[in-house]
Amino acid sequence: MFFNLFNCVASPAEIGYHIASKGILRGDGMIFYFSGTGNSLYVAREIASALRDEARSIPQAIHDASKAYEGERIGIVAPLYGYDVPEMVKRFMREAAFDTDYLFFVFTYGNRHGICSELACSRMASRGIEVAYTATIIMADNWLPGFDMDRQRMEDKGIEENLAAIVSDLCGKVRRIERATEAGRAEFAEYLELGIEYSGETLQGFLHMVGERCVGCGTCARVCPAGCIALKDGRAQRDSLAGLGCNGCLACIHACPAHAIEMELPEINPAARFRNEHVGIAELMEANSQYNSID
Ligand SMILES: Cc1cc2nc3c(=O)[nH]c(=O)nc-3n(C[C@H](O)[C@H](O)[C@H](O)COP(=O)(O)O)c2cc1C
Ligand code: SF4
Ligand code: SF4
Repeated sequence: MFFNLFNCVASPAEIGYHIASKGILRGDGMIFYFSGTGNSLYVAREIASALRDEARSIPQAIHDASKAYEGERIGIVAPLYGYDVPEMVKRFMREAAFDTDYLFFVFTYGNRHGICSELACSRMASRGIEVAYTATIIMADNWLPGFDMDRQRMEDKGIEENLAAIVSDLCGKVRRIERATEAGRAEFAEYLELGIEYSGETLQGFLHMVGERCVGCGTCARVCPAGCIALKDGRAQRDSLAGLGCNGCLACIHACPAHAIEMELPEINPAARFRNEHVGIAELMEANSQYNSID
């Protein structure tokens, strides 16, 4: 997909980052993203390419010593897990210092987005940071207990048109916060009543490795954004409390070529797995790799 039409880069001179004094990472613009199966990576990459900014993976930026970022615009692109961003993204929002007058969020989701913009804005407001723009974009829903990946892949959700509209807004530095609908509020309230939590502890029994099917390829360990999987004696082992703690992203399940990882909850189509069609497995591994996760 190309966004040349928008011709939206204000200053096409030098793009990129440099470390300024006191460890502040400075650039024209920066797009941070978290992605389990490539949807958010694709969106972040397209936005970054249109704005001529650089996209940086949150699973890697979370290790930055200072997490102080300065730029003309700073964006966060993330999926919704239970109507809200993943735990690691929440942590990044708590720990990072964003020096910009244009902070924006783009949420990828598959079905319902509740009040995600309000949640992000109030999280940042509690740190005295104003959000300039938020948008949601519906894409394939990778939640295996709820959806058949083969069908999700076939559905036309208008992604290219919606993404083009978001890019156009961002190019024009439009200031707009997406307002929640009454239906969105009701579904979020209903969800809260279920009391579901996505933390390493609660996700310990979320999925299991089918040891005898594992071929020891290490894909799951490399694609895990939290460093929860290691190879032991040629087979993958997962500890949801290891590394940064499981985020429930399902990257490991979707990426396993041997279907050796399954969910504890019944899956709609256990034979079907998903990765965004524009994102290769190598790109996802590069984005998520936590190094040293394989012994
Ligand atoms: C644990 C989990 C919870 C999810 N919860 C929601 C949700 O509340 N609402 C929704 O519309 N999609 C939900 N999804 C679907 C993802 O938000 C959606 O597929 C997203 O685009 C995936 O992005 P990624 O490919 O970058 O990981 C959920 C997915 C997972 C794995
Ligand atoms: S991706 Fe699958 S086959 Fe490969 S190491 Fe992980 S569980 Fe085993
Ligand atoms: S163990 Fe699997 S579900 Fe948990 S963070 Fe790693 S890749 Fe995601």
